[in-house]
Amino acid sequence: MRLAVAGKGGAGKTTISATFARLAARAGNPVVAIDADANPNLSTALGVPPAVATRLGPVPPSLISRRLGGTGLTEPIDAVLDRYALSAPDGIRLLGMGAPAHADEGCLCSAHAVVASLLEDLGGEDDRLVIVDMEASPEHFSRGTVRHVDTVCLVAEPYYRSLETVWRMGALVAELPVGRVVVVANKVRSAEDQEAITEFCDRHAFELAGSVPWSEEVVAADRQRVPLVDWPGATPVVAAVAELVAVLAAAGPLRQAHAASNKASTGPTCQSPR
Ligand SMILES: Nc1ncnc2c1ncn2[C@@H]1O[C@H](COP(=O)(O)OP(=O)(O)OP(=O)(O)O)[C@@H](O)[C@H]1O
Ligand SMILES: [Mg+2]
Repeated sequence: MRLAVAGKGGAGKTTISATFARLAARAGNPVVAIDADANPNLSTALGVPPAVATRLGPVPPSLISRRLGGTGLTEPIDAVLDRYALSAPDGIRLLGMGAPAHADEGCLCSAHAVVASLLEDLGGEDDRLVIVDMEASPEHFSRGTVRHVDTVCLVAEPYYRSLETVWRMGALVAELPVGRVVVVANKVRSAEDQEAITEFCDRHAFELAGSVPWSEEVVAADRQRVPLVDWPGATPVVAAVAELVAVLAAAGPLRQAHAASNKASTGPTCQSPR
């Protein structure tokens, strides 16, 4: 499964991506995590030690081949992984999109093309999870960077502007050949929060695949630079992400910790934000 995690800035994309990746890896799936944020911090959330994280370099654009019908890599994907991926906990392999090193450096077109090529060539291995932690901007959709993913997970916080972003991104994804779009609620503090997101998803025919509670333990773990799966107090949050793994795995060959029910998806048919 190739899964992209998107949403408004600060919605919890990196937190959920890292936790999802660690849980899927522990369940026995080979996992490749791609930090597709030009302001990267997935390595931290996965638990890569700082001294190792500094070695995460971008896959160079010189490896992109413009093939008929799309992009791809000039070398076998396994060779690219061996050369450029960092080892993260639980056997995860982490690739980076790269970050601008200097001011006034120019655009990130080639970095986006690299991510698109990686995603194209990482398809095909059934139980492999490829998870892409995206930046907050809609550029990954407008450029088609994630056109090769199977599923897009839109992280929604229970407030209007976050839901507005989910609606806007959902409309863009609907124009890509992506098979499934789901919403996951994050930072849910009350029944009213849950109701707001449920009502939004019902109204716009989004599949609500999971709900992650607000927890001060997430903030505490983040302060200490500890991944959630390694922070005992975060158990309810980790359990909610495990449910999300189960819901998404139910549709495909991804191994999962436990099963969960799912709702049929009709895809986004949004006309207005809320
Ligand atoms: N369920 C939660 N409960 C409490 N705090 C949370 C929860 N999920 C995420 N956070 C906190 O919200 C902040 C933003 O989370 P995170 O970095 O994962 O968001 P993001 O969407 O990746 O942000 P960006 O758009 O900058 O990439 C972090 O401080 C994180 O610890
Ligand atoms: Mg992030």
